[in-house]
Formats: sequence, structure tokens, C-alpha cells
Amino acid sequence: MITLITGTGAGFDNGEFKSINTKYGDVCYLETTINEQQYYVIPRHGIGHKIAPNKINYRAIISACSMLESNAVIGICAVGSCHNDYKPGDIALLTDFIDMTKSRESTFYGDEDLRHISMDDPYSDSLNSILINSANSLNINIHSDCIYVCTEGPRFETAAEIKFYNAIGGNVVGMTNYPEVSLARELGLNYGAISVVINWCTGFSGEKIYIDENSVSNSMSKVFAIISNATPKLSSFIVNRPPVFI
Ligand code: HPA
Repeated sequence: MITLITGTGAGFDNGEFKSINTKYGDVCYLETTINEQQYYVIPRHGIGHKIAPNKINYRAIISACSMLESNAVIGICAVGSCHNDYKPGDIALLTDFIDMTKSRESTFYGDEDLRHISMDDPYSDSLNSILINSANSLNINIHSDCIYVCTEGPRFETAAEIKFYNAIGGNVVGMTNYPEVSLARELGLNYGAISVVINWCTGFSGEKIYIDENSVSNSMSKVFAIISNATPKLSSFIVNRPPVFI
């Protein structure tokens, strides 16, 4: 089965939750149907959307994905844009990230056995190409090469920070994809992430941050259409992505 890790604007904050007990804590998840296909859904901000980005138990969530024996894990994240090519409403597949977080438990290793994981390929290429083909076949535009800057949150960024993130190569800014992505890599999961641009970042467009809820839900529906169209392919084989330690 495919596991979706959902965030702001995706819904799934309420429902008939089950709980899975991991070494790092309990994780609530739904077993649910989207567009007639079954998924596990883990809302990363918890039931009722109460857990702040910097307080999310990322290690428990990624352990749960592994325990659920997911063929593929797809993170869905709302982001702001710090680049002219990425506009509110756009959908982008993440291919790299820049970590600007400060205080997160970001590895399964280091207590007794220190390991340094390679970040050559943080997101699964094969999963990304299936999602791109799916979007193309549905005529849905998707950016296929997007660099995500992860900030600590929960506050938004200053205009000066956003200028800096643009200057160092960032395309979009969010608060939750790190360390979700690197932990998934440590466990060898077939992990990818789709982001939905919901606003221009602070100071970027000359206006105050504005989020159009209708546009967000329209883009989220497109994301779920892309995923469900890709699901037969994603479910039909096991991808071997052993972590590479240096
Ligand atoms: N900054 C950080 N995280 C976000 C933003 C933003 O502008 N929009 C949605 N998540």
C-alpha cells in the first residue's frame, strides 16, 4: 500500500484514526479511500492539526511508514514561493533541499552507532518519474526539479531571509520536509514529495502574505488526481533504495 504524509490544506485531520506504536512514540494514521484506491494517510500535524512543524515527531512518523510496509511514501507539503517561476497554485516535485532548521531530531543514528547518510539522491527518482508521467497524462502542469528550503517555523520568514533563500538557490520554502526526507532515506523508503505553492513568501511579491483557500483546494485535488492515477504503477513493484552510508 502507499502511505501519504499530509500537511496543511490537504484535509485528513479528522476521521477514524488508528494508532501504531513505534520505538519513537505513537503515530495516528487513517486507512482511507481516495479516488477509489486505498491508502494509509498520516497527517503530520496530528489529529486536529495541532502539532507545530518544529514539534512534529518525524522519527516516529517515518518509523510508522516503514512498519506499515509502504511500497511508496509520498509527502504532501504546502509551501511558499521564493522564486519567480513558482507561482501560487503551482505544483512541484521536490528534487533537493536546503536545511535551515535548528532543533530537530534528524537521524536514527548517532546514539550508539554513528552513520553518515549520503544525500546524493534524497528523493526517489523512480517515484518522481512515475508522478511526472502521471501528471503529463492528465495534462496537469508540474515542476519536475524543485529545491525546497526547510525553515524551523512556526513563524514565517523575514523578507531578508527570503532574499537569502532565493540567492542560495531555493525555489520554495516550507517548514516540514526536513528531516522527513532524510529519515526516509535512512530507512531506505521509496520516498518522494509533492509541494503545492500556496503563497508568495514574505516580501517577494511586494504584498502581504495572502493565501487563497479555493486555489489551495483546487491544487490539492490535482495532487490527489496525480497520485491516484499513478497508484497502480507505484503499487505494482517494490523499489529497492538501500541507504548509502559514507
Ligand atoms: N514559508 C514557510 N512555510 C510555508 C510558507 C511560507 O511562506 N507557506 C506555506 N508554508
